[in-house]
Amino acid sequence: MNGLNIKIRDLVKVHHTGKIEVQALRGLNLDITPGELVSIIGPSGSGKSTLLNIIGGLDKATAGSVQVGEKTVTALSVRQLVDYRRKIVGHIFQNLNLIPTLTAKENIEFSMVASGVARGKRKQRVQELLKTVSLLDRADHKPEELSGGEQQRIAIAAALANDAPVLLADEPTGELDTANARIIVEYLVKVNRELGKTIVMVTHDPSVARASNRILRIEDGLIKTSLTPSEVIVQEKAVSYVDQLKDRISEIYVQLDQFDGDFRSGKIDGDEYVQKRQSLKHIRDSLKEELSRMGVIPP
Ligand SMILES: Nc1ncnc2c1ncn2[C@@H]1O[C@H](COP(=O)(O)OP(=O)(O)O)[C@@H](O)[C@H]1O
Ligand SMILES: [Mg+2]
Repeated sequence: MNGLNIKIRDLVKVHHTGKIEVQALRGLNLDITPGELVSIIGPSGSGKSTLLNIIGGLDKATAGSVQVGEKTVTALSVRQLVDYRRKIVGHIFQNLNLIPTLTAKENIEFSMVASGVARGKRKQRVQELLKTVSLLDRADHKPEELSGGEQQRIAIAAALANDAPVLLADEPTGELDTANARIIVEYLVKVNRELGKTIVMVTHDPSVARASNRILRIEDGLIKTSLTPSEVIVQEKAVSYVDQLKDRISEIYVQLDQFDGDFRSGKIDGDEYVQKRQSLKHIRDSLKEELSRMGVIPP
């Protein structure tokens, strides 16, 4: 399905952790046209993931509205949201995209099982998608047997499986080196141009953001600036590698807390919880090691 438009009005999100309130979004407005590729940049903690999660129906808005095509996402019931997440949006994350015990092809097929696509059709679709991301020869590999870049390409294929008109990518190149990051961006651009999908991508990396039609800078839960690709390098302050590592580690702590909450509230089951936690802790420890090697005391 071709891309849909996204219309966001006065979006507010307040996160509660115990008695502490964090206002992650403070009345944000945004219009995205069908088939547009938009990047969201901004400092850690500025509300980028919160915005994407609300558009994707993974998190609930406190106030304001989000409309995707004809659907008012912020007014959908829990059941309608399940349907919305299956049919309208594909989500790509920085990591934790793939199920480690399934092969590449099973990971892609998995997203179609829940949507009730017939077996024969699924197999055929998996082949098409593997071709789209040029990984037909990796079909039977497990995630750990694939490079980070290949894993992320499989994640793109999985996000495309149900032919959702909107793709949301949260730091899709975050764990990748520059060369692999470029390849992932090329595939996202291809999916945007050739399949006409609307794509909203969050990124720390100005060179990744430059591939999009429009770059929006979010600060303190509001969109502060809209830039064209040619303006982005000059205006975006270079973030040092050490700061990026520190930011990422802080984010992981927040994510770990989130998983604890999700597990306690029954949003994710025990297996998923353990897997996600282990994977995140592993990334955190390698980032800390990297910092130590550079002579910096990790946060
Ligand atoms: N589930 C949550 N519970 C409590 N606070 C949260 C939660 N998710 C995000 N936050 C807080 O909301 C703010 C915005 O977070 P986030 O949207 O993850 O920012 P970004 O993706 O730009 O780094 C941060 O202060 C963060 O700590
Ligand atoms: Mg984030």
